Amino acid sequence: MSSAELVELFEACRSDGYASVRTVDAESSLAWFYRAVLAYAEGEIRDASAFAATAAAREPENIVFGEAARWLERRTATGRAGVYELRDAFAAFVRGGGNVALYRATSERLRRVYAEYDSVALLDIGVGDGAALLPALSDRVGHVDLVEPSESLLAVTTAALSARGISHRAFSSTLEEFVAAPPAVGAWDLTQATFALQSARPAERQVELRWLASHTARLVLAEFDVPRFDDPQAPARVQYVVERYSRGLAEYVEDRELVAQGFLMPMLFGSFDRTTARTNYEQPIESWADDLRTAGFTHVAAEHLYQYWWADAYLVDAWTETTPDPLTHPSLGNSKRAMIPLSPPSGTGRSGWRVATHAIPCSG
Ligand SMILES: C[S@@+](CC[C@H](N)C(=O)[O-])C[C@H]1O[C@@H](n2cnc3c(N)ncnc32)[C@H](O)[C@@H]1O
Repeated sequence: MSSAELVELFEACRSDGYASVRTVDAESSLAWFYRAVLAYAEGEIRDASAFAATAAAREPENIVFGEAARWLERRTATGRAGVYELRDAFAAFVRGGGNVALYRATSERLRRVYAEYDSVALLDIGVGDGAALLPALSDRVGHVDLVEPSESLLAVTTAALSARGISHRAFSSTLEEFVAAPPAVGAWDLTQATFALQSARPAERQVELRWLASHTARLVLAEFDVPRFDDPQAPARVQYVVERYSRGLAEYVEDRELVAQGFLMPMLFGSFDRTTARTNYEQPIESWADDLRTAGFTHVAAEHLYQYWWADAYLVDAWTETTPDPLTHPSLGNSKRAMIPLSPPSGTGRSGWRVATHAIPCSG
């Protein structure tokens, strides 16, 4: 990969406008793909398609370039995003690849958290169809409150809870709406949000985290440790995207075309589209920890969950001083001892605590 070529294209595009992207002398397959990204961001879909086709012809073994070229060609030909129904493609995506192990690791870890309590009143924010919650549930969970804006997803979760006879209340709302009008009985031993708070805008999220800090004894988040980039089209981000999507696409063999054309390529190019509203605000795990401390949680720890193709997943565990410290309090058990402290040991810098390299594209 030649990042110097990408930097040259990026700077030319920023200083002289998109037209310069056609004339800068950059020839690597990655530079052609980068041109496709810059063209797509500009709404120049025909250019994007031609550039991606050149990238794919120059490096046929690169599955990202090949799938991108096919997706852009269809978009140019039909004006539509793809031939597949997004729903089928998303279903194949979540049921396959690394998502299986990611969700297994997440549910197993949540189950161990519940085991630290005799009986826990739980709040799940952005529960979706319960993919993380339902396999984790045990007889330690006395009651669950659910917050989820999608009524159809919420219905899947409530049906499963009813079938299992688990006491629950369901709130069909966003976290913002829930916090603005909380239920009368609104305090929980434990709140969890798995791959959900990344959907909330940071300024609003901070207000919600502050509210949670005074309404829950403990908050556990599952999130991805995604690097921060200065600009969505920054060369380093595009290199990251190409490298990570190559890993992700490689995880799908039989369903690859369906998953790539119906879900992953729309996700990839959507993240470069300036005309659509941003729906995902991922960030490094360290930033989640900072946000939680700022919100009022006095203790924050993180444990590596799974090395997912997009980024490493972590469980971030936050509690306040008034909560019994899990390191010393017997009812909260020993599990925190295995956690990685989020504050780097002095002098070691950011890498001091990191145990692995680095988000799931969130379906919303
Ligand atoms: C990637 S899914 C994760 C679902 C589930 N927690 C899981 O782990 O399978 C993100 C979920 O967050 C929900 N969501 C999006 N914005 C939200 C918001 N502002 N407040 C609460 N939930 C939200 C979406 O509807 C979706 O169900």
